Amino acid sequence: MPVRPILRLGDPRLRQVSEPVETLDTPELHALITDMFDTMRAADGAGLAAPQIGVPLRVMIFGVESNPRYPDAETVPTTVIVNPEYDVLDDTQVSGWEGCLSVPGMRGCVPRSRAIRYRGYDAKGKLIERAVDGFHAIVFQHEYDHLDGVLYPDRIVEKTKFGFEDELVAAGVFD
Ligand code: NI
Repeated sequence: MPVRPILRLGDPRLRQVSEPVETLDTPELHALITDMFDTMRAADGAGLAAPQIGVPLRVMIFGVESNPRYPDAETVPTTVIVNPEYDVLDDTQVSGWEGCLSVPGMRGCVPRSRAIRYRGYDAKGKLIERAVDGFHAIVFQHEYDHLDGVLYPDRIVEKTKFGFEDELVAAGVFD
């Protein structure tokens, strides 16, 4: 299945609120998820949400094994979540440098809730429910935001902690 073009910040389709998937375990849903994995892996991403390839449905994928874009990151299991929801378990805000395939070449420091419980369905309709913290919680919150038309630059509090990755590395701000 094809690698799809990834929409970039400025495209109004990234700002839509996506719709729930009505029927699970359909050929269309499986094909979408295959395309999403192919697209994410081709771009060395940690996660991808369906609206990033122009599909306004509440579907997200993520997973971090060894990723050259996040060399020091904790691993996160490869996961598909359809129609996700979450609750905050610990609203302590932890800040980390995030990137996004829709904001290529840039990084920003974003505060997120430290621990959450999320639930949703895999592509076959099996319930997934997990309590997570750390990088796993951050990746989930980042991808979930895409389903509501929110991108990480919207959440940057310290506006100076945002820039091009190579400049931030050169400045020693981000490594
Ligand atoms: Ni993103």
